[in-house]
Amino acid sequence: MSAENTTPPPNAAQIEYWNKGGGAAWSNYHDLLDRQLGPLGHEAMRVLDLKAGEAVLDIGCGCGQTTFELATRVGPTGSVTGVDISAPMLAIAEARAPHDGAGEIEFRLRDVQTDDLGIGRYDVAFSRFGVMFFSEPTVAFRNIHRALRPDGRLAFVCWQPFSSNPWMREPLEAVRHLLPPSEPPDPLAPGPFAFADPDRVRGILTDAGFTNIDIASFETTLGSGSVDETLAVTLRIGPLGRAVADQPERLPELAGPVRAVLERYLTSNGVQIPASAWIVRALGRQE
Ligand SMILES: C[S@@+](CC[C@H](N)C(=O)[O-])C[C@H]1O[C@@H](n2cnc3c(N)ncnc32)[C@H](O)[C@@H]1O
Repeated sequence: MSAENTTPPPNAAQIEYWNKGGGAAWSNYHDLLDRQLGPLGHEAMRVLDLKAGEAVLDIGCGCGQTTFELATRVGPTGSVTGVDISAPMLAIAEARAPHDGAGEIEFRLRDVQTDDLGIGRYDVAFSRFGVMFFSEPTVAFRNIHRALRPDGRLAFVCWQPFSSNPWMREPLEAVRHLLPPSEPPDPLAPGPFAFADPDRVRGILTDAGFTNIDIASFETTLGSGSVDETLAVTLRIGPLGRAVADQPERLPELAGPVRAVLERYLTSNGVQIPASAWIVRALGRQE
């Protein structure tokens, strides 16, 4: 009789989160999230300077908006592989209609840290907020590095610290007195702010074999459209969403103070709250 292997995979907690509560919230609100995050993903695509016919890896592609946009940019002779650990989010990605004139698209349920991504298959690796959740980031980026051709390029967008992101900080502060006290999160733990320190990011990429690392600040404003649309996302995604994920009955009580914050940022272009991200780029080898 063979002994059963009960060791959980290194990213077990994230796999559970993105296949259960987190994955469900992102799946339900993916249209509004795409509107909110679209411009930040476009900035990371812009610095990649994609060329027709290139093969692209979309890391943590989620519900697939960026995968389709990348496929449009590389055109019909190019291809994009979207990889993610979330089955429900990939199901949404697979159901999206392809854009005219886009390259070939495939989606794969893969853990970027532990699964085989192939060797030298991709010209480019990209991610919109999909690289901050690895238990061992250097291992994951070594795997990404191995999947790139020797002259491959990497670009991703990740968040600067919570304190530099009023769009997440101000709604949470407005309701903190209504929430149970909580310990400050470990800044190195997998999560939205794990790559907030650019020195840490530079060290991880260097150890993984990347060169010519450039980390640029991208300061912008964002929202999901109207106050109601942005409120729906703010109450369910990000630090506030996580804090109340298992208490949906509290949402009506929290909605008032959060709505008051969002109304202060209402413009003719919908809600627009300041946000700060890093646009990180690197090469597979020294140029
Ligand atoms: C914040 S969401 C971003 C999703 C998508 N890139 C977007 O911008 O809409 C983070 C994504 O990373 C994925 N992810 C987290 N850890 C991963 C891993 N080890 N391998 C592959 N995907 C992962 C999650 O399942 C989730 O879809």
